[in-house]
Amino acid sequence: MPSPTKSATILIIDDDKEIRYSFERVFSTREFRLLNAASGEEGIEIVRRESPDVVFLDIRMGGMSGLETLQHLRSVDPKSMIILMTAYGTTQTAIEAMKFGAFDYLMKPFDTKKVLGLTEGALKAREDLRKIRNDRPVLDSDDYKEGIVGRSEAMQEVFKVIGQVAASDVTILITGESGTGKELVSRCIFQHSQRHNKPFVAVNCAALPENLIESELFGHEKGAFTGATSHRVGKFELCDGGTIFLDEIGDMSPQTQTKVLRVIQEGEIQRVGGSKTIRTDVRIIAATNRDLEAMVREKTFREDLYYRLNVVRIRLPSLRERKEDIPELVEYCLQKLRKSRKSDVKKVSPEVADVLVRNDWAGNVRELENVIYRSAVLAQGDAILLKDLPEEIRKAAGAGAPLKSAPQPDSPSPQPESAAAPQPEIEGFGGASPDASVAVEEEWDMRRAFDVLYDRMRKESHETILDTLEREMILRALIETNGNQVKASAILGITRATLRKRIKQFSLKDKY
Ligand SMILES: Nc1ncnc2c1ncn2[C@@H]1O[C@H](COP(=O)(O)OP(=O)(O)OP(=O)(O)O)[C@@H](O)[C@H]1O
Ligand SMILES: [Mg+2]
Repeated sequence: MPSPTKSATILIIDDDKEIRYSFERVFSTREFRLLNAASGEEGIEIVRRESPDVVFLDIRMGGMSGLETLQHLRSVDPKSMIILMTAYGTTQTAIEAMKFGAFDYLMKPFDTKKVLGLTEGALKAREDLRKIRNDRPVLDSDDYKEGIVGRSEAMQEVFKVIGQVAASDVTILITGESGTGKELVSRCIFQHSQRHNKPFVAVNCAALPENLIESELFGHEKGAFTGATSHRVGKFELCDGGTIFLDEIGDMSPQTQTKVLRVIQEGEIQRVGGSKTIRTDVRIIAATNRDLEAMVREKTFREDLYYRLNVVRIRLPSLRERKEDIPELVEYCLQKLRKSRKSDVKKVSPEVADVLVRNDWAGNVRELENVIYRSAVLAQGDAILLKDLPEEIRKAAGAGAPLKSAPQPDSPSPQPESAAAPQPEIEGFGGASPDASVAVEEEWDMRRAFDVLYDRMRKESHETILDTLEREMILRALIETNGNQVKASAILGITRATLRKRIKQFSLKDKY
């Protein structure tokens, strides 16, 4: 028996003294902590106090009935695994009771082996559940807290839909090319849902062979197939009350599709090789990078399941369709690297920025992330330079000209340069230190910023360019100095009187 059973606490709730004695005999030789209750009421009190791992509960008792007790127990401590005990003839009630969340049931009279087998199964399920709950902090890690990057219109649309649907229990289908963030979005929906305190379980339907995926999802009974040496609780059952993420749903076999359809329609599952019907309440989020509509036409994906899943559709844009998000994604990746202390790199050179924006990113954000990670590892200073990028990326962006291996001591002062032009060896300026190279790059950044500003304002601004710039700079200085006009005017290089005039002119009074 696995180690978690060693210190496990077992509670027997039965008004029949004989039964309680027989349990004592079963468990006495082993290292369990055994508790007894002679009524439902007493049992509930003990559960409240002791949170036992497994509860054996008699269905037919004087006072509070087994079914009533079961419902109370579920709300007092949803983590306890409850096994119902039933006499011959009350099987139907037991099946009903399963629907209220019992783990299993035991038919009287029972033998030691059966009791121990069920206890072991219940403890294993409890342990699995605990693991799922313990996995959850991963979702609270910084990666996910910072959320999903994307200012592009396409991503803003995605955020809107997430906001609209997260709180409801509606089934969601997420589609998009590989690496576009389908799993990330599913976790985000989960975190914003009312089920965020319940388990989130991800199952990759493509990663497991057919016979295992069913057992993974629905569980199996002992002996259901070769190798099924004990019974196993599936993800749908474990995830009761929570959210299940069915990844790569387009790779699911027709047989499994039928079973998943049943869960969605009826909220019911059956373990493989079992006949018990088990109720489960899960929210389903499915994802695929395949063309489900085409699969429905080709009859490789069930049409009825397709419609059940496609209640709300979130289509994630490819990175090619939202290139304006690339700089922020790069920044985000670098931040992640710094936080995890994998790299100190703070920025990318302007040429690298160009190449990254021009690349087509067949592997989307995942590929971009990988490229940034790989390049950051190679970078020597605190910036990624063209030479650090993988060759295939440089080539694909037309920046694949052979790199000069030696530094160029007499390089001219930096000029904006297309990515296709020969590599500017920034760190080579007169043998400059990494700090100097960063200074050069900062100057580049400034120029680039002015270019962007000028272009934007030429196109968009109704005010004059200088007024807009002046207003923005004054506002920043005021914010930085907490509204201290003496300090702000010193930063800006104007008199305090001029500053006051400008604050009035630009209506900045309430803005800082
Ligand atoms: N908008 C985004 N902002 C920040 N990071 C993102 C974004 N989209 C994806 N990522 C990151 O890219 C990587 C791939 O994302 P994810 O696994 O969610 O993609 P996927 O669509 O499920 O891919 P696949 O189809 O290959 O399973 C992850 O590391 C994720 O954190
Ligand atoms: Mg995925």
